[in-house]
Amino acid sequence: MESMHVSLILIGISVLYPRTGALHKLDKPVLFGPSVATELSVVDFFCEIPGIEETLPVQYELSVETNQSKVIGEYSSLSGNKATFPLYIKTQHDGRLICKASGHNNTDIESSFSEGLDLKVIVPVEGVRIISHPSSNNVWEGHTLTLQCKKTKGTYVSYNWLLDERPVEMAYDSTDDKLIIHRLSARNTGHYMCVASNQFNDTMTFNSSSDLLSVQVKEYVSKPEISVKVEKLKDGGFKAVISCRSEKGTPLITFSLLNNTDTIATETSDRTSTFFNVPLELNRYMGHVRCNASNEGNWLLSEPADLTVESVGGAVTVTPITHTGRDFQVVGLVLRCKVERGTFPFYSWFLNNSRLEGRGGFYEVIWSNNSVLMLSVGQDSAGFYHCEASDRFDNSTSIRSPRMQINKEVLNRVSPVVAVVVFTCFAVLNVALMACCIYGVVLRRRYSGKYSLINQRRKMEIAVKQEDEEEEEDDDYLMLEGYEEDVVLADRMSDSAAEDEDESVDETLLYEGAVSK
Ligand SMILES: *[C@@H]1O[C@H](CO)[C@@H](O)[C@H](O)[C@H]1NC(C)=O
Ligand SMILES: *[C@@H]1O[C@H](CO)[C@@H](O)[C@H](O)[C@H]1NC(C)=O
Ligand SMILES: *[C@@H]1O[C@H](CO)[C@@H](O)[C@H](O)[C@H]1NC(C)=O
Ligand SMILES: *[C@@H]1O[C@H](CO)[C@@H](O)[C@H](O)[C@H]1NC(C)=O
Ligand SMILES: *[C@@H]1O[C@H](CO)[C@@H](O)[C@H](O)[C@H]1NC(C)=O
Ligand SMILES: *[C@@H]1O[C@H](CO)[C@@H](O)[C@H](O)[C@H]1NC(C)=O
Ligand SMILES: *[C@@H]1O[C@H](CO)[C@@H](O)[C@H](O)[C@H]1NC(C)=O
Ligand SMILES: *[C@@H]1O[C@H](CO)[C@@H](O)[C@H](O)[C@H]1NC(C)=O
Ligand SMILES: *[C@@H]1O[C@H](CO)[C@@H](O)[C@H](O)[C@H]1NC(C)=O
Repeated sequence: MESMHVSLILIGISVLYPRTGALHKLDKPVLFGPSVATELSVVDFFCEIPGIEETLPVQYELSVETNQSKVIGEYSSLSGNKATFPLYIKTQHDGRLICKASGHNNTDIESSFSEGLDLKVIVPVEGVRIISHPSSNNVWEGHTLTLQCKKTKGTYVSYNWLLDERPVEMAYDSTDDKLIIHRLSARNTGHYMCVASNQFNDTMTFNSSSDLLSVQVKEYVSKPEISVKVEKLKDGGFKAVISCRSEKGTPLITFSLLNNTDTIATETSDRTSTFFNVPLELNRYMGHVRCNASNEGNWLLSEPADLTVESVGGAVTVTPITHTGRDFQVVGLVLRCKVERGTFPFYSWFLNNSRLEGRGGFYEVIWSNNSVLMLSVGQDSAGFYHCEASDRFDNSTSIRSPRMQINKEVLNRVSPVVAVVVFTCFAVLNVALMACCIYGVVLRRRYSGKYSLINQRRKMEIAVKQEDEEEEEDDDYLMLEGYEEDVVLADRMSDSAAEDEDESVDETLLYEGAVSK
């Protein structure tokens, strides 16, 4: 019965399509419909064979190319009308759709397939959160951090990363749903957020934001700096306040104080510095101390600091350096005070026994230890100067320097002693020159062919000229070498600051006739 029916239709087709012979192949169907659809929406797809005979019943089937065994839509066209597939969109429909046309209830007609139609199924993105490798509460500078933006749902999703509400910089390596931060540093610290979004059409976008993820990049503690300050205690004793300070390092930081190699104190701080108090005896060997700073990541030692503190002692000297104007008159003075011994000296300056502090009309006290007094020489500044040295941590005792008179006349006077010495020098020079001449004449007589007096003299002249040129360079500072005619070493005063070789000349100039006790 069944086979009779089939053969009847077969005869019909061969009659309709005499050119193709016994078996008929259907023309290629055309599939059309949207290329984007959202999940759970209902969308129509259409399929037809252009110019098909109206009387030929055709069966259309819609499937996804990757799994053609699963038919997702069927349509029977009995009178040449096009197939309509109202499709309830699911994620499985994402891919390339294919329409198959075959003979309706007729397996003798060869079926044909449409071209594929690409369909994107948009699942609105949802449930975004950040996963951190390694855990965000244990990341160290220099390491690599990977943040992944995980979603519970969503297709065709793109990701944006925000750091403290601003888009992350281009320097970050972000691919797909991952943000990779190489060589972490403190500037990567902050609150990260991931925004995932996808788009159906120009007006319909979906997005989902993660919670903020706090990332604190921990820093290794840096080499600590050690410094020692001495304080006087109420009971008359002393203590050393030792400061240990690291430039950076994530707290908590443990500082310990080492005396040579022994740990003598330990302190854990939520800052990058700390203090240790150590009782101190002056003028006694107290060893060398170092700070050991450590946090979870590493530890580092400071340079050693000498804890032996000597109080001020010995002589106090003042070394002046004059500053001359264009007319070679002294216009300015720099006085430098120095005590022979003492680890933390501190200086005070006095004019006619009244203290000079900070900055005044004609002076300025400079340097953290007040060791230098700058003066302009004039009417106001004339008088008797001295300096006193005391311990910075205890000014109850101090040592005075000798007094020094300063005024314009004293500074610029050429004393009789100077004149005498200058004259003597000239005389000696003349004698030497004459001796040379005589010696030269004698030589000439002896080796008349070899040397001439004229040559000898010329050489000398050249040598003197070169010396002059060298001297002219120091035109501002009054140096002995440049002014041999005016300045000569005077009597050394017992209290002069003769230790500094390079400054001894100026200093003696000033002391000349100026120091009174
Ligand atoms: C194809 O569809 C069938 C029927 O739904 C299913 O059983 C099979 O797992 C699918 N194959 C693939 C590769 O998806
Ligand atoms: C096609 O065949 C099926 C069963 O194979 C039958 O149920 C249906 O009625 C037939 N349709 C036509 C139009 O012959
Ligand atoms: C986007 O899709 C929505 C829902 O299908 C529709 O109402 C809207 O007109 C579309 N907009 C554009 C620009 O295509
Ligand atoms: C996320 O969606 C909201 C509205 O739902 C919109 O205002 C916002 O601009 C979107 N953000 C992104 C990054 O697409
Ligand atoms: C450090 O050790 C030395 C002995 O090595 C000791 O004389 C000194 O008092 C110690 N200093 C402190 C501050 O403990
Ligand atoms: C410094 O401290 C760390 C941590 O407490 C410790 O492991 C290390 O041995 C210390 N270094 C020295 C030289 O004491
Ligand atoms: C005074 O302090 C400066 C640093 O401020 C230092 O260079 C100088 O040597 C100190 N002078 C004396 C005499 O202690
Ligand atoms: C300091 O004393 C001297 C001598 O008594 C005097 O000439 C000079 O004017 C005094 N200087 C000041 C600033 O008082
Ligand atoms: C000594 O120090 C105390 C406190 O710092 C201060 O008040 C006093 O004026 C100082 N004395 C001298 C002579 O500098």
